[in-house]
Order: sequence, then C-alpha cells, then structure tokens
Amino acid sequence: MPPSAIKPFRRHIFVCVNKRDGKPACEDHDAKAALAKAKEAMKALPFSKRDGVRLSQSGCLGQCEHGPVAVVYPSGKWISYASADELVHFVLEAIEAAD
Ligand code: FES
Repeated sequence: MPPSAIKPFRRHIFVCVNKRDGKPACEDHDAKAALAKAKEAMKALPFSKRDGVRLSQSGCLGQCEHGPVAVVYPSGKWISYASADELVHFVLEAIEAAD
C-alpha cells in the first residue's frame, strides 16, 4: 500500500451535537450553540496557532449520560462541559497544549 498523502491534524476536536428521541443527548444542552462559540474563538486566533487544528461537530460519541461532551485527539482528553465558555476554554487549551 502506498504511503498516504493525507496530512494528519495536530489536534482534532470533536463536539457532539447529537439529539436522541426521548433520551439524554448533547443537543439538549445547546451543544450546537456552544460549538459555534468555540469556532468563533478559534477563528480569532492567529493562523499560526490554529494551523493543523480541526474543530468538528460530531454525532453521538457514546457518552450521552455525561453530555454535553467533547473530546480532543491525539490526547484523548474528554470534557463534560457546563457552559459554552467552558467548551471554549477546553478548545483553546487543547490548541495551546504542548506537543
Ligand atoms: S448524544 Fe452526545 S455523546 Fe451521545
């Protein structure tokens, strides 16, 4: 198999925005709005800081009872956030983390 031309991200952050019928889910806590705020905060950073970082909305991450949740790779660090500001802090901290 030839080597992949796909360049890996330095950080990839997934924010669950899933909704489930009659069951707890992250979007019950306005996860989409929190993600939008985190994206704004990230875009406000100089390009050199956010280069190689991807902030993605995701479907269910399998932690619904702890929602709303987000996770960053490659560290595998999770957050169950209580506010949009807490998610923003998590995202900015993940971007700043030493390699
Ligand atoms: S709905 Fe968000 S982790 Fe399942």
